[in-house]
This record gives sequence, C-alpha cells and structure tokens, in this order.
Amino acid sequence: MRPSEIKKICVLGAGTMGAGIAQRAAQSGFQVSLRDIEDRFVKGGLENIRRTLDEGIKRRKVTEDQAKEILEAIHGTTDIKEAVDGAQLVIEAIFEDIKIKNQVFGEVDEAAAPGTIFVSNTSSLSISEMARAVSEPANFAGLHYFYPAAINRLLEVISGDDTSGETMDLLMDLGRVMGKVPIRCRDSPGFIVNRYFVPYLNEACRLVDEGVAGIATVDAAACQAFGIGMGPFALMNATGVPIAYHSQCSLHDSLGNAYAPSDLLKRQFEAEELWDLSGDVDEKAKEAAMNRLKGVVYTVAGQLMDEEVCSPEDADLGATIGLRWALGPFAMMNAEGTKEARYLAGAWLQTLPEEARVPVPTTLEDLATRGEEWPISTVVVETDGPVAVLRMSRPAAMNALNTNVLQDLHVALERVEADPALRVIVLTGEGNAFVAGADIKEMVTKTPLEAREFTQLGHRVFRRIEEMDAIVIAAINGYALGGGMELALACDIILASEKARVGLPEVGLGIHPGFGGTQRLPRLVGRWKAKELILTAQQLSAAEAKEIGLVNEVYPADRLLEAAKKMAHRIAGQGPVAVKLAKHVVNRGAEIDLDTALNYEVESVSLCFASDDRVEGLQAFIDRRKPDFKGR
Ligand code: CAA
Repeated sequence: MRPSEIKKICVLGAGTMGAGIAQRAAQSGFQVSLRDIEDRFVKGGLENIRRTLDEGIKRRKVTEDQAKEILEAIHGTTDIKEAVDGAQLVIEAIFEDIKIKNQVFGEVDEAAAPGTIFVSNTSSLSISEMARAVSEPANFAGLHYFYPAAINRLLEVISGDDTSGETMDLLMDLGRVMGKVPIRCRDSPGFIVNRYFVPYLNEACRLVDEGVAGIATVDAAACQAFGIGMGPFALMNATGVPIAYHSQCSLHDSLGNAYAPSDLLKRQFEAEELWDLSGDVDEKAKEAAMNRLKGVVYTVAGQLMDEEVCSPEDADLGATIGLRWALGPFAMMNAEGTKEARYLAGAWLQTLPEEARVPVPTTLEDLATRGEEWPISTVVVETDGPVAVLRMSRPAAMNALNTNVLQDLHVALERVEADPALRVIVLTGEGNAFVAGADIKEMVTKTPLEAREFTQLGHRVFRRIEEMDAIVIAAINGYALGGGMELALACDIILASEKARVGLPEVGLGIHPGFGGTQRLPRLVGRWKAKELILTAQQLSAAEAKEIGLVNEVYPADRLLEAAKKMAHRIAGQGPVAVKLAKHVVNRGAEIDLDTALNYEVESVSLCFASDDRVEGLQAFIDRRKPDFKGR
C-alpha cells in the first residue's frame, strides 16, 4: 500500500494524544474517525481539537476555512465498527494498559477489512506483544507521536518482530505526508528518544541528590552542554514529574539497575510537587554536571547501537527535532572525539552502585580504540535495485547546506558512482524543505576568502552531479531556495510537489546566487526571466515554476516520491550506455555551438553503436522481446 491509497484513518482514543493525532491526520487531508468508549470522551476530544484550531487561527497558523475543513473531516463515534469501516489505517491511542489495548485490537481486527494496517501509539509497551492480538502481525507496527501530537514534528516508527518491510516503508512515507520527521527503530524499551532522554532527566536528579550541583546549576549545565533553552528540571515542571518517574521505572523494569530511578525523583513524585528552580549557578560545579549528563547520554546512545535499535542518524534526529538539542548524541560525540566520549561514559558508569554497573558499550569502545568517529551523514542513502534515494537530512535547519552537508553529499554521490548497479538517483529532502539554501548561520562569519572556498566546494559537488553517469532526478518536496534551487538546477530532471516553493532570495541577503544560479538559470529559462527571478528574489509556486519550464512535472505531495521513483525505474530500464551518453551529449551540446554539438552527437551515437547494449536492444526489438541490457 502507498500513502496515496490511504483515504480514511481511524483513531482509537479521544484523549490528548488521540485528539492531536486525529487533528494532524485531518490536517494532512485524510478522512478521520475518532472513537472512544463514551460519548463524553468523544465530545471532549473534538472540543480539544476545536480549541487548538481556534488558537491556530489566532496565531495565523490556519485560516478559519481550513479549520472548518479539518473539523468536518473528523467524525466522532463510540461505535467501533463504524469507526473502522472503510479505514485503511487504525491508530490506537488509548491508555497504557496492555490487556485493554490487546482487547481493543482484537475487536478492531474482527471489524476491519483484510490488509488494514494497525499501529499503536504506545510509548512503553512491546509492539511485538501487541501484534499477537491481530490476525496479520506483518501489518502491525508502532507509531510513537510526541506531545503535542498535532504540532511536534518527531515520529518514531517502530517495527515489531513480525512487521513487514512494506508496512514500515508505508508508515515512514505516511509520516512524511503528515508533515513529520519519521525515525525508524526496532521494538525496544523506550524506543529511541525516551531511552536516552529519560535517563538524562533521572541523572539531573541524581546530581542534585548526591550534592554534586544544585537544581539551577544542573539546568544551566544542561543548557550549555546540549544547546537548549530549558534545562531538565524546568522541563519536568512543564511536562510533569510523574511522567519522568514512571518512564524511568519502566526502563528500570526492562533494562536493569543501571536505569534505577533516582531517590530524589521518587520523593518528588510522591510529594506531588514541582521543582524549585531558584538558586545561583555554581560555575565550578557546572563542569562536573555537564560531564555526568553527557556521560549518561553517550552510554545509552552507545547501547542503542550495540543493540541495533536504530541508526545513529535517526537517534540524532530524535534529539534535534524532538528535543530541540543543538546536536544529537552521536554528532556531539564526534565533535568532542570518541575517546573523550568513551571516557565520559566510563566515568558515568563508575558513579553507579557496583551491582548496577555495565561495561562501556562495545561500539563506542571499539570506535574510541580505533580513534574513529561515528559514521553519521546528513545525506541518507536508501537503495531500491538500480535506484538510490538520497535524502538531504538536516531538517532542524531546513536541510541548509553547510560545509559538512556538502561534504556528505559529495561522499554519497561517490558511493553511488562506485556501485555500477546504481544508475538513477532521486534527490529529495527530509521534513518540509528540499534545501532552504546555503547555511546562512555558517556564512555570516565567513571572510571573502572562506566564502570563496565554500562556493568552490558547492560548485565541485554540483558539477559532479552534472558529470556523473547516473541520472539525477530532483524531487522537490518543499522549499528549494538559494543553494537549494541551484542544487536542483544541476540535476537532470526536476519534479516538484504541489507544496514546493522555489526561488533565489540571495540579493535580499546582500549577496547573489553563488552555487551556479546566475549561470544555470539563464540557460534554462532565458536571460531576461532569470534576471527577473534573481533581481526580485521572488519565490515561485510549483505550478508557476512549471509554467516557465523550471520544473518538469508537479505532483500532489503524497505522490511525489512515488512518481520520482517510478520515473527513476523507467530510466533504469532503458539501455544504460545510451542513457548515460544521452545525458552527457545533451549537457555538453547546450554549452557549445550547434555544428560542434552535432559532431559531438555523431561521436556519441557511434559509441552507442560500439556497445553490446545496442546489439541487444535492436535485436530484442526484432525478436519482439524485452531487452536484457548489460550496460556495456
Ligand atoms: N540557513 C540556515 N538555517 C536556516 C536556513 C538557511 N538557509 N533556512 C532555514 N533555516 C533554519 C532557521 O534558522 C530555523 O532554525 P531555528 O529553529 O534554529 O531558528 C529553521 O531552519 C526553521 O526555519 P524557519 O523558522 O525560518 O521556518 P519557516 O517555515 O518560518 O520559514 C523559510 C521557512 C522560508 C525557508 C525560511 O527559513 C527562510 O527564508 N530561510 C532562508 C532562505 C534563504 O534565504 N536561502 C538562501 C540562502 S543564501 C544561499 O543559498 C547562497 C548561495 O547561493 C549558495
């Protein structure tokens, strides 16, 4: 199933999370049934949604018409059969009791059509165990939304023991359609984010309990170490001490004494009080507190790798998107060196009672011993036969291109080039941008010389796209501004979602396009139109971009990637030698005079005739069969 085949989503449970999920689903264009056991709960959920939308109207996030449409798309009911009828996806968001969840899943399984996908929004229960309640466990997974579910962009997509790869791929894509940044993980206690975030809260309490630092100092230490605006105690006051305590207890039950809740956290929970945040920051104690907080996070992050729960990139996205940390744990470890990270993890483990101590995670130990970094990239590569999807993945900064991202893109392109089986690339972006340009925050301090080197790096990477044999399709999923639009201009084909916005806003920043925009755009749309776009810094919608020939085709957001992959596979099915030579002859020909270009075409097509592919392609036509190209 593809996200575009999902028309109706059934949400079970109209509490805070269920209502938020229902709102997000309706906002993303789905019909939604919101079911709870009593009418008053359903009404409460709908009222919650109405209130959130009213606030959205006040803050100009939604218009009155959009709010009306969203509410009309949500149908509240207490009847389980009616709720499930016609739904392709059922999202359970009832309270955390496995017996009740299993019973409800049993009931909806009977009422639902075969092939329906079931997911649970649990934050602590086992997906594999719940999957036993339904008849098709391959169609069962976890979708862990973060509070507030309608707004928070992070979504954990969790596979149980029996979840199929197709179900996971569908849910990852669906998450993107719903405007989320989905991260993939295996069923495991705390999944990704809570696994390191809850022990970080717990550690803050241990530090105070042991007298290492006071509350104000620990909060200040956390803000400095993790680049955040709110320390752990201030945050617990906002989200609730009980949830921190219960979550730590749940990790303790599943993972042992290294996760034992701090006595202070327990006492505070029992006293039903908020933390007193007053007090001075003790600069001397701050360093020790920072090291302990980093130590626990690095240890748990390493354990996630030892247990193969997720990729380091997804763990980092959990932190930057879900928690708004400046860097994720793995990028932090790389920044300070894995040797130092191993030391901090080891030092933290020494603070545990002897019987609770576990070794430093093997993956961290090995990397530190070899003096290597965590292999993380801001460009994620997924392959599907001859097609590679390269996803620009720095969504907290709208995938803005800094030196690191450009280098990662270069490495990803090299990786594709090194694999002769990969013939077509689909280049897209995570979150709501393709790429929102060069990184303004990195550029702000650059000297002219540094800017020159940065610009040359951009040129090298973009030129590589033009010169490589693989065909590159840009699938513009959102903003493609400045360097982002220039990146698309270096690709062979540009497809865009209806939500895409393209433009070259540089002159508004006091600079002009520097990643090829002043040269490639005029070649594509003509000098006068290009100057209009560059000089006015005007943004175009996808439809407007198509009208001037800047975009090949526009698709609904939920069909863009599907369409790009389909086109990629179609290209990959043609004669490989002919495809790569055709790319080069078109690109070169556009740069030179017609006579030279036609001569170039003669040489190029003669090369085609020297290939085995030509023999196979022509013969297959005569034999009325599908050609079996070898790419030689
Ligand atoms: N560089 C660095 N960070 C960027 C960025 C960029 N180009 N674009 C967005 N971001 C960051 C924002 O700073 C913000 O981070 P924080 O949450 O930490 O503050 C985050 O991404 C989300 O952005 P917004 O809050 O601004 O999101 P929005 O939805 O309100 O607006 C936007 C989206 C219209 C894309 C807006 O972010 C924007 O205008 N970005 C800048 C676009 C631009 O001018 N690009 C050209 C860059 S120069 C260039 O590319 C030179 C060249 O030719 C090589």
